Amino acid sequence: MRILITGGCGFIGSHVVKEALNRNFERVVNLDSLTYSGNPKNLHGINDSKYHFIHGSINDGGLVESVILEERIECVIHLAAESHVDRSIRSVKPFVETNIDGTRSLLEAILSSRDNGISTDLIHVSTDEVYGSLGAGERPFSEDSSISPRNPYAATKAASDMLVEAFVNTHKLSASITRCSNNYGPNQFPEKLIPLMTLNAMDGKKLPIYGDGQQVRDWIHVSDHVAGIFSTLDALSRKQIDPGEVFNFGGDCEMTNLEMVGEILLQLDASEDLIEFVPDRPGHDKRYAIDYSKASKLLDWKPVVSFQRGLKETVDWYKNNSDWVKSVRTGEYKNWINEQY
Ligand code: NAD
Ligand code: DAU
Repeated sequence: MRILITGGCGFIGSHVVKEALNRNFERVVNLDSLTYSGNPKNLHGINDSKYHFIHGSINDGGLVESVILEERIECVIHLAAESHVDRSIRSVKPFVETNIDGTRSLLEAILSSRDNGISTDLIHVSTDEVYGSLGAGERPFSEDSSISPRNPYAATKAASDMLVEAFVNTHKLSASITRCSNNYGPNQFPEKLIPLMTLNAMDGKKLPIYGDGQQVRDWIHVSDHVAGIFSTLDALSRKQIDPGEVFNFGGDCEMTNLEMVGEILLQLDASEDLIEFVPDRPGHDKRYAIDYSKASKLLDWKPVVSFQRGLKETVDWYKNNSDWVKSVRTGEYKNWINEQY
């Protein structure tokens, strides 16, 4: 198959691109506008004539349509987004532009390509944050949980999910939506919890924990998420699932932020004295947890990377890739750290 990946220079997108090449897709096209979190170094070393990078935005509908038509794209994995909750609290505009209007632009380009004879399947990569927040004793989110986003990032992702569902219903688009919990692994931009804490601890800097650190996240290794995305694509393109189906992916790994930071300190043999409690994130979601029994039953999917192995490999990756770290801690990164902390 010939695949288009949007946001392929980002954290998860770069792992999706590598996996698509491993899986011998006939053509792998990566469309990325290279925002602060998009980094061509995430794909360093790829030397494969099947791979083609296009520097451009999903908001440019004409460009997206011409890529689909000229490359005869048969499936799209859509990851391009503004992805950081804290940034969406400071300024929501880029999130509305990319996550909502960019998805609108992509959907319209897929429709007009179909009118021009090219039909594509779409996997829309969404997030568990659209379900809102759980209390301590509540059941994990299932695909039937209500959509109840509580921060601006999550609201824009929920809006994009609804657009995709509306296009499936109205225009008979062949699409499926995935909702995954918190990913970790190599190449994650160090504004997110695990790389931020790892790099700060390596430098002997303070580790800023929001509020009391008792918020719970369900951590999943990025390779398990990527496997789930490709299983969904396989099932959709073989017509084993109906268009419009949603699949949750989670890691069976609920931990408080304080526990997570403790694990990172253990890996690095660093002191707990580095921990610093700072003012809480406004509207901070208390707990995310995922029931992935639907994916398990219909896609034969389950997470396979143990947290202990995944975290050790991730921390080692940041220790061993100082050039990459240097390349992302640019002016934009420094501005963000100064503004936020
Ligand atoms: P990221 O911020 O690392 O990467 C986003 C990528 O999208 C970057 O390469 C960026 O340059 C690109 N991009 C942004 N705007 C674009 C535009 N207009 N046109 C083309 N490219 C554009 O994000 P990530 O953590 O890799 O997340 C990828 C997707 O997965 C997002 O849709 C996110 O909502 C979703 N997701 C992330 C997680 C997580 O834990 N990181 C969990 C579940 C779902
Ligand atoms: O659940 C999936 C979501 O996970 C994805 O959709 C988002 O794109 C991704 O960014 C992530 O969102 P979170 O807000 O959960 O991730 P983040 O790494 O920003 O924060 C994880 C937890 O750690 C959260 O409870 C806030 C806390 N935190 C984070 C930072 C950056 C801190 O205590 N201190 C920090 O400095």
